[in-house]
Amino acid sequence: MRILGIETSCDETCAAVVEDGRRVLSNVVATQTEIHRKYGGVVPEIASRAHLEALVPVVAEALQQARLDIQAIDAVAVVHRPGLIGSLILGVTAAKTLAWLHDRPLVGLNHVECHIYAACLERGELPFPCVALIVSGGHTSLYLCESPLAQALLGATTDDAAGEAFDKVANLLGLPYPGGPSIDRAAMHGSPAAVRFSRPWLAPESFDFSFSGLKTAVLYHVRGHGADAKKRPTQLSEREVADVAASFQECVVDVLVGKTFRAAEVHGMDRLIVGGGVAANTRLRSRFQDQARAAGIELLLPEMRYCTDNAAMVAGLAYHYVQAGRVSGLDLEAKA
Ligand code: KG4
Ligand code: ZN
Repeated sequence: MRILGIETSCDETCAAVVEDGRRVLSNVVATQTEIHRKYGGVVPEIASRAHLEALVPVVAEALQQARLDIQAIDAVAVVHRPGLIGSLILGVTAAKTLAWLHDRPLVGLNHVECHIYAACLERGELPFPCVALIVSGGHTSLYLCESPLAQALLGATTDDAAGEAFDKVANLLGLPYPGGPSIDRAAMHGSPAAVRFSRPWLAPESFDFSFSGLKTAVLYHVRGHGADAKKRPTQLSEREVADVAASFQECVVDVLVGKTFRAAEVHGMDRLIVGGGVAANTRLRSRFQDQARAAGIELLLPEMRYCTDNAAMVAGLAYHYVQAGRVSGLDLEAKA
């Protein structure tokens, strides 16, 4: 079964074709990073317009790379929540149109569930049951997953998502947009022990996360207590920037690794999935790998191209929805 997936929840226009839930035949991503760079963040209205321009060529490219005609597609899948409403509407409308025109089943999916599934692409056995951590620009969530179709939320962020904290701290440090990869690179030249930011563990048994206090701690560290994030660009030496970036990153990674492994222990799981854009972070990947090896836990980290937003994870997960008869009607709606 070959499924065409479409993903437009934020600032990437994505289309992919995946066979039987695992074999990625094509995976096309048109990124809008350059368009939003001068604003220092994603501008929703501009994102919608860019999706409108990119969607038709991106879908055509995904079919062409898979060497398939649209007639060879068995179902059309799309992320319909959560995300930027204007961006979601474009992907949903494109998917509905294709499904209706070619009389194929339509599958509407949740973006975060797709990020969990990204670790299953191009692999043999499905890794369920397991614990999954999704860390992206919009989410920091820990799940207990029974199957690709069933997951229970163990904890989530109470304020900023991990990726959002990376992006905001990068901005504070004067590092270029997008912030996550900039912090990752800067931190390679700094010491993670240079500044001891206190770890936001919250209550001892809690699986929730909170990174907004850490962001303020970084602000006060670099500009003095009571500073305003909107005022005065930070004047720091390259060395200081690298040290603060590495210390901030270490703090976030400590909490993510600590809570995720504790969740696996509490729930008796020996398999872990880590996904979402922040799962592309070099330090996070190596810390998870080291700890998994030490604890005898099987770690599933998606390849880098499946960590950040893509449609292969959408077309892959949709296969299991179609198999289970969980298809959507043409009344499928985008939900922010
Ligand atoms: O999953 P994703 O592509 O989009 C959302 O669903 O939000 O994640 C984007 C987030 C951004 O906040 C970005 O800064 C972060 O992932 N990110 C990283 C890295 N690459 C992307 N954060 C830390 N280190 C990275 N290497
Ligand atoms: Zn995402």
